[in-house]
Amino acid sequence: MLNNHVFIITGVSSGLGAELTKRLLEEGNTVIGLSRTDNEEIDRNTLDGKYLYYPVDLTEVESLPTVLQDLISAIDQYKLKSITLINNAASVTPLKDIQFCTDEEILKNIQLNIAAPMLLTSAFIRLTSDWHVVRKIVNISSGSGKYPAPNMSLYCSAKAAMNMFSRCIGMEQEQGRQVNEVQVYSVDPGMMDTPMQQTARESDMALAGYFAAQKAEGNLIDPARVARRIISLISTSVSVNDGLYQACELEE
Ligand SMILES: NC(=O)c1ccc[n+]([C@@H]2O[C@H](COP(=O)([O-])OP(=O)(O)OC[C@H]3O[C@@H](n4cnc5c(N)ncnc54)[C@H](OP(=O)(O)O)[C@@H]3O)[C@@H](O)[C@H]2O)c1
Repeated sequence: MLNNHVFIITGVSSGLGAELTKRLLEEGNTVIGLSRTDNEEIDRNTLDGKYLYYPVDLTEVESLPTVLQDLISAIDQYKLKSITLINNAASVTPLKDIQFCTDEEILKNIQLNIAAPMLLTSAFIRLTSDWHVVRKIVNISSGSGKYPAPNMSLYCSAKAAMNMFSRCIGMEQEQGRQVNEVQVYSVDPGMMDTPMQQTARESDMALAGYFAAQKAEGNLIDPARVARRIISLISTSVSVNDGLYQACELEE
């Protein structure tokens, strides 16, 4: 379907990020994947140089603008139709009342779940500002950004911040000061059958039983199905909510 389209995706080793990567590669796109570990299945099945894995710990936030600069400077913009950043990597942990979280756990959560997407977004917009290609940012959100939950204060807060961040940059892009505006999507994928869900239901937090019941009752969505729906959504231009911003809930 798509060609000469480059996707930079965080969190490609498992769950939704792995499924987005597989599907986009099947469709002939180029994917640059960032996570701490590689996905061997993707690596094994991608022989034509269209998948580039870049090992990075996204909590090491000071390095991220340089990482993105290195990646972007290796791309020939004149061969592209579009470039898309998908901020997908996240962690639901720590799953405890806030007073029991260590300072390090708190900081790591904030670094991964909100500082990294903000830094990557800023660098992405800046470094591609004179590119004459379609530019998109997709921020993977969560229902947790809207609904408060005990033991999940850091994750819920980061996702709420992510939602507001997406709206604000959508407005900035619409104001016409850019040569080539970036379209911004915020996608709530719904509850998916991924390692993140397993972490939640196997924890001893307040909602572990609820998450276990969702799995037992077959209510978790296959992330491959979610990936297909996200790719279809972002294949079309944003239908504007606020500025160049579109929010979408994929819950079924
Ligand atoms: N699963 C759900 O029910 C659900 C519901 C709503 C929203 N979401 C959202 O959907 C997105 C994907 O979630 P998922 O369920 O697919 O999660 P997942 O299976 O746990 O995958 C998380 C990905 O993030 C990467 N990651 C974690 N820590 C990292 C770090 N420090 N540096 C670099 N990469 C890191 C992991 O790779 P490495 O460990 O190899 O680094 C992995 O590839 C997240 O934004 C999540 O908040 C999920």
